[in-house]
Amino acid sequence: MYTAKISGAGHYVPERIVTNDYLSTIIDTNDEWITERTGIRERRWVQEGDGNTAATMGTKAARKAIAAAGIEATEIGHIVFATISPDYYFPGCGVQVQEALDIGTIGATDIRNACSGFVYAMSIANAFVKSGMHEHVLVVASELQSPFLDKTTRGRNISVIFGDGAGAVVVSKAKQGERGIMSCHTHSQGKHKEELTMKGFGTQHWIDEYDKNGLNPDIHFPQMNGNFVFKNAVVRFEEVIGEALNKNNMTSDQIDCLIPHQANLRIAQFIQKRMKLRDDQVFNNIEKYGNTTAASIAIALSEAIEIGAVNRGDTVCMAAFGAGFTWGSLLMEY
Ligand code: UT7
Repeated sequence: MYTAKISGAGHYVPERIVTNDYLSTIIDTNDEWITERTGIRERRWVQEGDGNTAATMGTKAARKAIAAAGIEATEIGHIVFATISPDYYFPGCGVQVQEALDIGTIGATDIRNACSGFVYAMSIANAFVKSGMHEHVLVVASELQSPFLDKTTRGRNISVIFGDGAGAVVVSKAKQGERGIMSCHTHSQGKHKEELTMKGFGTQHWIDEYDKNGLNPDIHFPQMNGNFVFKNAVVRFEEVIGEALNKNNMTSDQIDCLIPHQANLRIAQFIQKRMKLRDDQVFNNIEKYGNTTAASIAIALSEAIEIGAVNRGDTVCMAAFGAGFTWGSLLMEY
């Protein structure tokens, strides 16, 4: 068995900034409500004609991660791409990254675990590298969610939260003595699949239904039972971070940086309190980007590295919770 580590990270967000004040001009909401309930002040949304798609944003983030890792794209052995907003219903975005990077016919796996997508993707990359199957695995997480949000007052509990953007990392074989990724933990509980979902255009709500009945907001836009999701999130976050710490005989005071999925600042603050973490032990950037689903941890990690909030040798814990429900954590020495 080998050890895997993150050798490089990068992120990309669209240029267009969408403020809470702007949202209050198109739906019945206001800056005070959004800031108080979620911590979000602005988010990035793609603009028509800017060329951004989940695949192109992911590719931009990937190029940065590859450069940061100090490798050639041709050295990558496999691509794992996490998104719930792919360019095509099929194939997945992974093959588009393979094409854009102009590399060999390496494998490309797509992950659809929503907000837990990056942690799930990391668990796969970690296993590939640990087993010796690949020396470098590219993990990309990218979301283009703004076009399919219900941007009317009816959808305001969801549309004000979500943003677009991409993050990527290269997972590589660690050198002797490097601790790297210590453990990954993933969970699911399908009985809550309808608490946070977008059912159309799944095969149970296909084109003929749309043709007959037109757009049905309950089917064709994301739906979330916000309170229920919130209550489950805070429990699972704490549980799965605890699982990672227990597995490695560590305690929360040994975490240099916790990067929680950026779902809601109130959730992150709740976990911080429960885990007795200081402000400097938790990294949040939801204020600027909103909830970018699978991409959120990848963007936050890349930004934390960029601004020196995460440095080589730091113990970093990532944790996610979202649709499915699915949740997971990863503990590593960066
Ligand atoms: O990333 C995947 C996982 N997702 C999460 O973890 C999200 C978890 N849930 C949440 O973050 C919160 O539940 C929300 C931010 C989505 C909602 O906050 P809340 O405090 O749970 O609000 P609520 O849904 O209970 O709604 C409270 C009130 C309602 O009005 P009434 O019925 O009390 O008159 C809503 O209609 O706030 C109203 N409301 C809004 N008002 C202004 C809902 N959305 C908005 C809005 N602006 N955007």
